[in-house]
Amino acid sequence: MDSMDVKSPPGGEVSLPKSSSLNNLITVKGLNKQFDTKSGSVKVLYDINFDIPNNSFAIIFGPSGSGKTTLLNILSGLEPPTQGTIKIEGQDFYTVDSDQRALFRAQSMGIVHQVNYWVKSLSVLENVAMPLYLTGVEKNIALKMAMQNLDLVGMADFAHTRPLVLSGGQQQRVSMARALVANPQLIMADEPTGNLDSKNGKMIMDLLIKCQKELNRTIILVTHNIEYLPLSDIRLYMVDGKLTQSDKGQHAPMNEIISSLTSELAELTKLEQRQ
Ligand SMILES: Nc1ncnc2c1ncn2[C@@H]1O[C@H](COP(=O)(O)OP(=O)(O)OP(=O)(O)O)[C@@H](O)[C@H]1O
Ligand SMILES: [Mg+2]
Repeated sequence: MDSMDVKSPPGGEVSLPKSSSLNNLITVKGLNKQFDTKSGSVKVLYDINFDIPNNSFAIIFGPSGSGKTTLLNILSGLEPPTQGTIKIEGQDFYTVDSDQRALFRAQSMGIVHQVNYWVKSLSVLENVAMPLYLTGVEKNIALKMAMQNLDLVGMADFAHTRPLVLSGGQQQRVSMARALVANPQLIMADEPTGNLDSKNGKMIMDLLIKCQKELNRTIILVTHNIEYLPLSDIRLYMVDGKLTQSDKGQHAPMNEIISSLTSELAELTKLEQRQ
C-alpha cells in the first residue's frame, strides 16, 4: 500500500503533508457505503460529495437511520468507504495504513462517539488522558491536562470513579473532555448533547463554539436538534443515506426566523380579517 508519508517530527506531532493554499480541511467525493451482512448487503450512503473548510462549524443533520454516524465513522478513519475518496488536507485518508491513520486520529481528531467507548478497568481521569498517552505525553502531565479538561465539563469530582457507573449524560461530558484533551485540529461530535439537560447541553455547545472561534478548530457536529442549526456555518442535510441539501454561510438565528414567521403570520391574519 502507498504510504501517505505521515510525518512524525521530533516533538512527536503527527501531521499529514499539507498541500499549500488548501482552504478545505476535508473533501469528500463520490462516497458510497455498503455493509455486507449475513442477510445480504445494505446500502447506507449514496454518492455523497461535500467540502468542509478549515475553521468552520459544520452540522450534519438528519433523521434517525439516515447514515450520519456511518458518515462520521468514515470521516474519522474508523470505517473504510465502499467507493469514493476522503481527503484531509488534500491527502487521501484511506491510502495510509491503519496504524498511521490511528496515530493521526489520536493527535489531530477529537471524537465524541454516539455510543461511549471506555477502557472499563481505568478511571475516568485515565480514560480522558488516553489520547495524550497515545501520542507520547508524559503520564503526570497527561493526568494534569485530563483533570483540567474534566473541570471544563464540570466532571472533576468524578475523576477517580469508573466511567460505567456514571449516568449517560455524565459519560457524554467526560467523552467531550477526552475529545478536547489533546487540543485537536478537528473535533467530531455525534449527538454530544443527546442525553443532557438544557444547562449542560448549552455548556457543551459553548465549549464547541469556543474551540472554533477562539482556537480556530474545525467542528463537525451530528445532531437532530434544529435549534443548533443557526450556530453552524455549513449544514449537510441527510435523508435515507443521501445528502439532500447542503448550505453554507451563517444561518439566521432561530429567534429571528421565528419572529419573521410570526410577523408573516400576523400579516396573513390581518389580510384574512379584511376579506
Ligand atoms: N455495521 C452495520 N451493518 C449493517 N447495517 C448498518 C451498520 N451500521 C449501520 N447500518 C445501517 O445503516 C443505516 C444508517 O445508520 P447510522 O447509524 O449511520 O444512522 P444515523 O443517522 O446515525 O441514525 P441515528 O440518528 O439513529 O443515530 C441504518 O439503517 C443502520 O441499520
Ligand atoms: Mg447515529
